[in-house]
Amino acid sequence: MALRMKIFWLNFVFVLYCGWAAAEKVMRPSFKDVKVWSDEKYVTHKLAFDPKDPHLNFTLNVLKELHDVDLHTQIRIVQKKDPTYFFTTNSTMNFCRIISWRNASPIGALIHTYMKEYGNLIEKCPIVKGEYFIHRFWYPEDVTFATLPEVDFEINFSAYHVDASMNREMIINDHITGEGTVHDVNNVKPGLLALLPKVG
Ligand SMILES: *[C@@H]1O[C@H](CO)[C@@H](O)[C@H](O)[C@H]1NC(C)=O
Ligand SMILES: *[C@@H]1O[C@H](CO)[C@@H](O)[C@H](O)[C@H]1NC(C)=O
Ligand SMILES: *[C@@H]1O[C@H](CO)[C@@H](O)[C@H](O)[C@H]1NC(C)=O
Repeated sequence: MALRMKIFWLNFVFVLYCGWAAAEKVMRPSFKDVKVWSDEKYVTHKLAFDPKDPHLNFTLNVLKELHDVDLHTQIRIVQKKDPTYFFTTNSTMNFCRIISWRNASPIGALIHTYMKEYGNLIEKCPIVKGEYFIHRFWYPEDVTFATLPEVDFEINFSAYHVDASMNREMIINDHITGEGTVHDVNNVKPGLLALLPKVG
């Protein structure tokens, strides 16, 4: 292709991209209150969030080898317009079993490959001392979520160390509140999942 033609196409694509990008509405969460606690005998951790160039940074420092870990999550999501509509969930999972599932299943491997781009992940249990992190992570966005109602959310996240005699001891306890609201943005982050075929 002649150079002039190439430049034309580049411009064309660029204009198309900008026009399209400026018009995007997405549902984005923002955090109002983030309280993190950890038992510094075992771990320290940090959570940072940038709403403008949306990303999350999570850093975990393991100071003492962890034999096994249970994760407990409580989530409540309430519609802003009508709080009679809400969703709550409590779940407890064993982290070490999730890791072995990840290593054994093709979907797990796919998610692992995706997440691995963002940092240094825990690969196996027991979890050896060291720094683990996910930096500049954002989940894949989809403009169709902007049609959902705006919400307030609350997340309680805790982690328990389970030692060889099955004693459970809390090592992390985080409380996060925030809201999911619709924004006009020009930096939608579609990510890997947006490439999957859509239904409907
Ligand atoms: C997240 O980490 C990246 C890379 O280390 C850094 O450039 C960015 O400023 C951090 N963001 C926040 C919100 O701390
Ligand atoms: C989170 O924990 C706080 C304090 O323990 C509690 O008041 C709140 O109801 C919990 N939230 C959820 C969603 O379970
Ligand atoms: C979750 O746990 C909290 C406190 O333990 C309880 O108040 C709440 O009803 C539970 N929610 C669900 C959906 O089980």
